Amino acid sequence: MASRLMDAVAYESCGGGPNGLKHVKVPIPSPKKDEVLLKLEAASLNASDWKIQKGVFRPLLPRKFPFIPAVDVAGEVVEVGQGVEKFKEGDKVVAMLNFVNGGGLAEFSIASETFITSARPPEVSAAEGAGLPSSGLTAHQALTKAAGIKLDGTGQLKNILITGASGGVGHYVVQLAKLGNTHVTATCGARNVDIVKSLGADEVLDYKTPDGAALKSPSGRKYDVVIHCASAGIPWSTFEPNLSATGKVIDLTSRPSTWITIVLQRLSFSRKQLVPLIINPEGENLDYLVELMKDGKLRTLVDSKHHLSKAEDAWARKTDGYAVGKIIVET
Ligand SMILES: NC(=O)c1ccc[n+]([C@@H]2O[C@H](COP(=O)([O-])OP(=O)(O)OC[C@H]3O[C@@H](n4cnc5c(N)ncnc54)[C@H](OP(=O)(O)O)[C@@H]3O)[C@@H](O)[C@H]2O)c1
Repeated sequence: MASRLMDAVAYESCGGGPNGLKHVKVPIPSPKKDEVLLKLEAASLNASDWKIQKGVFRPLLPRKFPFIPAVDVAGEVVEVGQGVEKFKEGDKVVAMLNFVNGGGLAEFSIASETFITSARPPEVSAAEGAGLPSSGLTAHQALTKAAGIKLDGTGQLKNILITGASGGVGHYVVQLAKLGNTHVTATCGARNVDIVKSLGADEVLDYKTPDGAALKSPSGRKYDVVIHCASAGIPWSTFEPNLSATGKVIDLTSRPSTWITIVLQRLSFSRKQLVPLIINPEGENLDYLVELMKDGKLRTLVDSKHHLSKAEDAWARKTDGYAVGKIIVET
């Protein structure tokens, strides 16, 4: 396999947006110990992909050029490396590749058996599965570890606000939150209100209305938890009056002002908290999410599908920040 070439999309330097992506032919990689080679069927894009290209995480990422972006993929195992036990040739999987190597915008890619790779049952399409890893695992971590919601519905009732509920992460947060004992208020653009209701939100606010901008619950609730996924920055002063006495904002979009707020909260012994979250992916949680999808309890909203040969269109769509669910690149 190693001597054959494949189609891939890569960039040679930071910056350049969709125009910085180049269609290239590169050798098909070979799986090493504990790795599998996947023939990719679909990949999905995340905000981190265009942020890495923009240079936001320099000098950590990308480590080298040319860099093939995207980490969330679905495909078929076509070769296994030494020591691989969980998968064999012909298995369909969903995987999260590592951020250092990327590799999702290509015909083939290497996934680690021991990192985040889950078997994909026939009920879960490649596009739906490819949407899941980063966004689904972030949604799961925010709700379970950071907010303490029990997804089997056994916890105490919590009032939750989800901002950016129509987006790649937000649409999973809404669906997973409703598996727990929660009342969900969600914000999104006017055109997406019905879609977000269809995901299970109890009440939905258009963020451009005065009440939406103020995050006021139509039923007058105070929020025990906010999962803040909206790409737009929202200041603490907007969240604070809407929180219950011990309310927490789990912030997926932390920026320098987040840390200033946290320091001020500590100094004032506030019981309301702003909590930054960074994804710490765990394979067993991806297994759980795939199982939910198989059982029809979780779905991927597919914003749009683009062929690998048109990956720059997918990139432009993701960069604009108004996708409804996930943007999929098919090979
Ligand atoms: N910390 C982590 O580990 C982690 C992991 C994953 C993602 N993230 C971050 O989470 C954020 C969301 O990612 P994503 O992939 O879901 O992005 P996305 O798909 O672009 O979604 C962003 C959403 O924000 C909504 N939005 C824009 N302005 C808004 C406002 N003023 N109020 C409410 N909603 C607003 C848009 O809604 P409409 O289209 O309806 O207007 C859009 O659906 C990004 O900043 C990303 O970097 C962080």
